[in-house]
Amino acid sequence: KMTNEQFPDNFLWGAATSAFQVEGGNQEDGKGLSVADIRSYPKRHQQLDTTVSVDHYHHWREDVQLMKELGLKSYRFSINWSRIFPNGDEVEPNQAGLRFYHHLIDELVAANIEPMVTMTHFDQPYGLVKKYGGWVDRRSIADFVKYAKWLLKEFSPQVRYWLTINEQAVMVLATDMLGIDDHLDEHTRYQMAYQANYHMWLAQAEVYKLCHDEYPNCMIGPAVSYITTLPASRKSYDMLAAKELEDFYSFAQMDVAIHGVIPKYFENELANLNIEISTQPGDEQVLQEGRANYLGVNWYCTTIVEARRDADPNGFIFRRINRVIDPDLLYTEWGWNFDPVGLRYGLRQLNDRYPNIPIAITECGWSEREELIEGKVHDPQRISYLHDHIHQMWLAIQDGVNVFSFNPWSFIDLLSNGDGMEKRYGLVFVDRTNFDEKNQKRYKKDSFYYYQKVLQTNSLQP
Ligand code: BG6
Repeated sequence: KMTNEQFPDNFLWGAATSAFQVEGGNQEDGKGLSVADIRSYPKRHQQLDTTVSVDHYHHWREDVQLMKELGLKSYRFSINWSRIFPNGDEVEPNQAGLRFYHHLIDELVAANIEPMVTMTHFDQPYGLVKKYGGWVDRRSIADFVKYAKWLLKEFSPQVRYWLTINEQAVMVLATDMLGIDDHLDEHTRYQMAYQANYHMWLAQAEVYKLCHDEYPNCMIGPAVSYITTLPASRKSYDMLAAKELEDFYSFAQMDVAIHGVIPKYFENELANLNIEISTQPGDEQVLQEGRANYLGVNWYCTTIVEARRDADPNGFIFRRINRVIDPDLLYTEWGWNFDPVGLRYGLRQLNDRYPNIPIAITECGWSEREELIEGKVHDPQRISYLHDHIHQMWLAIQDGVNVFSFNPWSFIDLLSNGDGMEKRYGLVFVDRTNFDEKNQKRYKKDSFYYYQKVLQTNSLQP
């Protein structure tokens, strides 16, 4: 047993971002538009305008310098799918798109920073949505596999850690993140979204298999949104409600990636929604043969639920529960709680379910509304969030959970998926607001120096 909260020597201390949230340059060098570029303009009053984002597309060298100064051992980022295949259906990739990531990856490797690369983070090429409805259509499988093949071929010599699809369950529940028209009725939207979910499972299974067969030195898995779900009371019906929600939202995604089988409890929920998935012979085998060899977990907070005992027992899970606020916990302005013990508990659950599976915490972070004051950003709450979550992760490792990587969300301020620049997560501050692009100058927050210390000592003890 290690003492002094010392971490294993080879522990991968990272930090995370995603392409549309940081890059900008959304139509430069041949890039096509993606769902992420399209979805938010009119609806969210340009809060998510990806034309500039935080302009990482032009600041990448400087950003890698900051990563170096921070002492990162790894960096989790995503490749913008429509930089590589602008429309999604081309046969040959866009060379300028590949070049950008070659430069970035070369720079990271030269700085001894291990790249951890997400293939798609909410950003299917919009061309595929226009052409055949995107992930809703079965043809999307082949277009994703073609894209993934190119990424592995081009970058696998330098990139050992791959993540296929970021937070599939989030896209499916939001439906518009898949390019599905918001004006359609709910049943139609869910019918389309769960069909898309099924295609994503098949697509990632094909990519897992391909990767194991041809690039045996690589690790590949999904990046799952894991919301550890706690019952509001010890009553059996509340405990069951919490379990059912957690199974449906988080564990179904992991079960399919790791066990290669769609769980019965998931199919039952689709039946509750009167949804039928169209399948083809051989699909079961594809899922069975293509499995992840590690798990990327995006973990922010817990959620607390009670059973709605008056609800239709055959209704959709989200109608059988109420969310409950715990008055003893601190919440962000956006309703995400501060519950670090939930992380240890959640990691223990993962290890029970998938014994000894290597786990990367691919996102974990605290959001605030922040301003620059005399060139500084004081973010004590983020520091205590990082401290307490790293502490609980350390305890989970002592419990025997195989966590090998930790990536605060986010390395740098970026467009929050929900709230643009108003909701900041970064260790590095970027000078711009939703409506004023300013100069996007970078400033190290107090949490940058805190995390730097952890990385220098490889421990929580200075
Ligand atoms: C995860 C996503 O859902 O959580 C990120 O992978 C996202 O893209 C993050 O930014 C935080 O969510 P939000 O809505 O606060 O940006």
